[in-house]
Amino acid sequence: MSATQQIRIQGGTLVTIEGRRAMDIEVLDGRLATIAEAGTLPGIRPPGGAPASVEVIDATGLYVLPGLIDGHVHLRDPGDGTAEDIGSGTAAAVAGGVTTVLDMPNTDPPTDDAARVDAKLRRADAVAHCDLGVLGLVDDRTLDRLEAMAEAGAVGFKAFLGPTTGGMAPPSESGLRAAMTIIARLGMRLAVHAEDATLVEAATTEVRASGRTDPLVHPDRRPVAAEVAAIDRVGAVAVDTGCAVHVVHLTSADGLAAIERWRARGADITCEVSANHVLLGAEDMAAIGSRMQMNPPVRRRAEGHATALLEGLADGRVTMIASDHAPHPASHKPDDPWVAHSGAVGVETSLQLFLDRVVGAGILTLERLVKATSAAPARVWGLSTRMGALTPGLEANLVLVDPARPWTIDDDTLHGRARLTPFRGWSGQGAPVLTMLRGRVVMRDGEPVGEPIGRGIRPSR
Ligand code: DOR
Ligand code: ZN
Repeated sequence: MSATQQIRIQGGTLVTIEGRRAMDIEVLDGRLATIAEAGTLPGIRPPGGAPASVEVIDATGLYVLPGLIDGHVHLRDPGDGTAEDIGSGTAAAVAGGVTTVLDMPNTDPPTDDAARVDAKLRRADAVAHCDLGVLGLVDDRTLDRLEAMAEAGAVGFKAFLGPTTGGMAPPSESGLRAAMTIIARLGMRLAVHAEDATLVEAATTEVRASGRTDPLVHPDRRPVAAEVAAIDRVGAVAVDTGCAVHVVHLTSADGLAAIERWRARGADITCEVSANHVLLGAEDMAAIGSRMQMNPPVRRRAEGHATALLEGLADGRVTMIASDHAPHPASHKPDDPWVAHSGAVGVETSLQLFLDRVVGAGILTLERLVKATSAAPARVWGLSTRMGALTPGLEANLVLVDPARPWTIDDDTLHGRARLTPFRGWSGQGAPVLTMLRGRVVMRDGEPVGEPIGRGIRPSR
């Protein structure tokens, strides 16, 4: 078969988990074909016939990173097109250097059976700008549908152990145990929203009785103890059942310590942090307002959790970075912490924030950032035979980063539908300038380009 599409990416500095080197890349028919020392690729030489097109992309002065896999987004599709849909949310993703997103099941209706998994994946085939995988909902009603959801293409499952947007019911103790037994047998992983419902309710009752309405009401309703209790609950079942677990949006040093304790007892527990929880502090709520209200909450900077999470990211105890992109229209975000909905946008700004505030600040190497945004999520979610590295044979998903590009974050420059970023007004340096999905340029100079060529990801089982 003759090649139909050939691309050279030359002059850039490739960043992998092992290090960075001046290398050129040849892409054939959407896959990484050859990666060679700068200047050593042979002349353009179609392997089996004349290519229909040859494109050269000059990456001089740029870093070439694997396309980001953002393992945690809420695209509100189906449900609330005023907040986001798969088209708008994946346009925002490619603007941020993301080539794959995993969509959470708390849509309306929730992703809780095989038909709804399939419908989301088909919708991605039709309108997505990047690839999209789906997590199926675990609650007491879905136990006998988990296998069918896996067959329909779910990459994993998610349980909400505490109350949050969408009102997903936490599984009972026996339901959780049964679900994890099934998920272990399927060889898949359970993502958990780790806030214990009972402790959140108790703290909420206490804070409400105090009559408080100040912005710190929100973090005080959802204490660190609730995160630890939820991790302990799932950790114990993980040891018993052998089910692999992933703790989403970890917020505390204590939560990370709990994960480490269960790891030491043999549990396979991975975890993620978001830019929100490592860069913001609850002290900022008075100035930023309900834009930064989310579940679990951003902790007080003075408590040191963000510093501990960044240390965990640097040494590998924190497995990955995910945005928890959770858009809400302005009508959901009054400045009353008792009324505002929780969740903040972020898929588009995560990479630039980590580049400037974390890598630029010397907290994380660029190589470690690459691991946390591509190789690690690919491994954890079973996608590494297709993506997550710059390795010949894998899909040509990559992002070119200009380390000198200045940026300022503002609602008006974002590409999602709801744009209330908690990072409004932040500026910095270093941003994605080109995103490639399976050999096609889907973002240039910060703007999504071309037809939406994203697809639903259906792992073969
Ligand atoms: O703050 C949050 N928002 N936390 C969640 O768990 C859900 C999310 C949403 O869907 O808005
Ligand atoms: Zn979320």
